[in-house]
Amino acid sequence: MDKYESAEALISDQKPERPVLGVRPHTAAKAARFFINNFPGDVAYAYKANSSVFLLGALYGAGIHHFDVASLAELEDAVTIPGVHLHFMHPVKSRLAIRRAYELGVRHFSLDSEDELKKIHDETGGAHDLVLFVRIAVPAKNSRVPLERKFGITGAKAARLLVKTRQVADELGICFHVGSQTTTPDSYVTALSEVGKLIAKAGVVVDRLDVGGGFPSRYPDSQPAPLISFIDAIKAGVEQMPVREDVILMCEPGRALVAEAESLIVRVDARRGDDLFINDGAYGTLYDAAHLGFTFPVRMVSRPVPPGEAMVPFSFYGPTCDSIDFMKGPFPLPASIREGDYIEIGNIGAYGRAIGGKFNGYGSYEEVILLDEPMLTVYGEDAEANVDAARA
Ligand SMILES: Cc1ncc(COP(=O)(O)O)c(C=O)c1O
Repeated sequence: MDKYESAEALISDQKPERPVLGVRPHTAAKAARFFINNFPGDVAYAYKANSSVFLLGALYGAGIHHFDVASLAELEDAVTIPGVHLHFMHPVKSRLAIRRAYELGVRHFSLDSEDELKKIHDETGGAHDLVLFVRIAVPAKNSRVPLERKFGITGAKAARLLVKTRQVADELGICFHVGSQTTTPDSYVTALSEVGKLIAKAGVVVDRLDVGGGFPSRYPDSQPAPLISFIDAIKAGVEQMPVREDVILMCEPGRALVAEAESLIVRVDARRGDDLFINDGAYGTLYDAAHLGFTFPVRMVSRPVPPGEAMVPFSFYGPTCDSIDFMKGPFPLPASIREGDYIEIGNIGAYGRAIGGKFNGYGSYEEVILLDEPMLTVYGEDAEANVDAARA
């Protein structure tokens, strides 16, 4: 794959017809090192966030060998990674998927119902080597994408399921997800405290605790607390819990590991007032901008911004015929931007290419490696210094 110093260097070399995914493996590796060095347990990458082989390779090279997979297709893909530890963390799986996962060596499964427990028991032939995680629904505080409505169990039902699962599992785990792009650590504190009460109520020994994903990245409208404060809050929360002293911790970050590791480079095909018609959109990598109101950092990369030129808050239309193919923004760009200019849209690595489809015949991309730093980062040059400052 071609390598460029920056999106500007790419556009001065060629004028790509299709949108371009600019991949920064070094950025994913830096994020992975932060988690590996600071999280007191296993760091499992949430495969769904982005399965680019360049990013997987960077994460793996930096020491991430655990992966959270959510479908048979992801699992069959990820199982080819050497020495991999797979965790099948979707609480509702088909019987075939459970059977096949077990055949492929997977022993870690999540569940949030007695029906699913029975399915796992049946399809693994009553296996005695299972590590089963009961998914608890916890409040989503300060998260951009709450996840507690669809999955998770609470209260007396949860206590009963913990007891039943303990009877079947070789090791019992608990997992939860505080919601994606959670900007303050108190969500983890609340979740751990709720889970602690539940364990006391159920009276079970818990071998593993999986605090899920949800760790934030930076976006123009979202400035999260320092990442280290999340990890410190988790450590303090776990110390208060009625779990084994040697409980094995795990986290499953997706967004925080890869969001910064990709940019999208698009061309302006038309300008109508403050609306720019670009060649990727809601049915492509900008799904979250259209449907969840995410804003991403942007900059014009096709020519220098004329000195003193004002920045204007633009909205984007994507290339399909559909009028919901619209990203409100605001995306601040130079007032003179026009047809033929190119824009770098940063921090698109999490749930960008992973969600994109082929509607209207769009959805294919050029791909290049970018060697520069991401447009916004939670892992600055001084990431280690930030750790000390955040703890001071
Ligand atoms: C079970 C599970 N783990 C981890 C993740 C990754 O979450 P995030 O990208 O917010 O870190 C998700 C996201 O949907 C999930 O469903």
